[in-house]
Amino acid sequence: MQDYHDFIDEVLVDEKAIETRVAELGAQISRAYAGQELLIVCLLRGGLTFTADLTRHLTIPHTLDCMSLSSYGVGHYASSGNVRVNLDLMTNIEGLNVLLVEDIVDSGRTLAHVLHMLKTREPKSLQVCVLLDKKYRREVPVEVDYVGFDIPDKYVFGYGIDIDEHYRHLRFIASADMKKYKKTP
Ligand code: IMP
Ligand code: MG
Repeated sequence: MQDYHDFIDEVLVDEKAIETRVAELGAQISRAYAGQELLIVCLLRGGLTFTADLTRHLTIPHTLDCMSLSSYGVGHYASSGNVRVNLDLMTNIEGLNVLLVEDIVDSGRTLAHVLHMLKTREPKSLQVCVLLDKKYRREVPVEVDYVGFDIPDKYVFGYGIDIDEHYRHLRFIASADMKKYKKTP
């Protein structure tokens, strides 16, 4: 695995800024769902770190479930929009308030697909919370209810977000200079 210092472009969001914003989102979501029960749906694996921190800032009763999707087809470092479900929910979401938690919305294809799929199961409500929004990359319209940070059109890693499954453990979010990045064979 290549040392990230060899390809890092810049730190976009540092640890302190993440901590502050995640706490704000937790408080905002708690107010929005006051007096109601909530099911948090974590989209694995990128949403894992964010979900773990976010839920510890919730002051309302909530349960947790996970889903894993992968996109396949063209583009290794971009989503193709052909989305496969690797791991489905264990919870029957009919009649529940569901909040989907995702790392990044880019083209919007992944979220559009999962939202469509979950809506057919007739939850009471369905909202979306993303850590990072690459607004200018949107190809499919998706309604995102809570956004951590708007970021520029750069490939990012850290705080749960990977490059070839590595670097998820880093406490900050950084952009990568992909010309300098070398995939471990
Ligand atoms: P979308 O379907 O194009 O909106 O892509 C969303 C998914 O692509 C996210 O859940 C991420 O897994 C992945 N993704 C998008 N941008 C990045 C990035 O900069 N770094 C790592 N993964 C990314
Ligand atoms: Mg993802």
